[in-house]
Amino acid sequence: MSNKGFFITLEGIDGSGKSTQVQILATKLKELGIDNVVTREPGGTEKGERIRTIILSSSLSPEKELELFVESRKELNEKVIKPALSEGKWVLCDRYIDSSFAYQVFAKGVSIDLFVSIHKKFGIVSPDITFVLDIDPEVAVKRISKGGKFHNLGFLKKVRDGYRMLDCCCWGLGRREIVYIDADRKKVEISGDILKKVYKLCGIKNY
Ligand code: ADP
Ligand code: TYD
Repeated sequence: MSNKGFFITLEGIDGSGKSTQVQILATKLKELGIDNVVTREPGGTEKGERIRTIILSSSLSPEKELELFVESRKELNEKVIKPALSEGKWVLCDRYIDSSFAYQVFAKGVSIDLFVSIHKKFGIVSPDITFVLDIDPEVAVKRISKGGKFHNLGFLKKVRDGYRMLDCCCWGLGRREIVYIDADRKKVEISGDILKKVYKLCGIKNY
């Protein structure tokens, strides 16, 4: 395997199981001796966590939300993602660019031009691979017992549709692979599929 780091993002509606799967993947990679950094959006840096608090506790316009999410993303790029990748570490990120597409652009109507231009302006790096945990919002909402922002089912259905559009979108933000995973299954089945794909992609033989 080359010593260049590898950048993986996990996406999906609230309650789809991203945080759970990020932790499982991180543990498995560590067992294989692959040094990895786990982070999340919004957040992942001191400034990002401050932005997270502002966004999750206020009612902002979708354009302002996008601006803050990308500001947090830029900080995460500079302080966490780029340094880790250049040291040959893997980065696993719970939400990233595609959340802004699914929530702000597709579900809330922010223009795609603004979305693309702001990411280009800030030099945001693209992941190598993105796993989208696809699930019926009714199942996901039942899973979420507390925390996070309240979203109604209609909204989450739109967000899910946004995620389903990803593999036919060409934004010029860098090429990467998008893999859809049926997330309405047992944790171990989901992690098995994710691991198989990651191992294959990276030439790891023991799967
Ligand atoms: P997200 O990060 O996408 O919001 P979490 O990983 O925090 O989702 O999971 C939300 C809740 O659902 C947690 O209580 C978690 O333990 C549970 N959960 C995660 N994956 C599954 C699964 N495959 N089946 C049932 N419950 C799950
Ligand atoms: P969080 O509690 O981290 O999400 P989850 O329930 O998936 O664990 O809350 C983050 C919220 O921010 C979530 O509702 C999705 C939203 N979000 C956006 O709208 N746009 C973005 O670009 C990002 C990164 C998150």
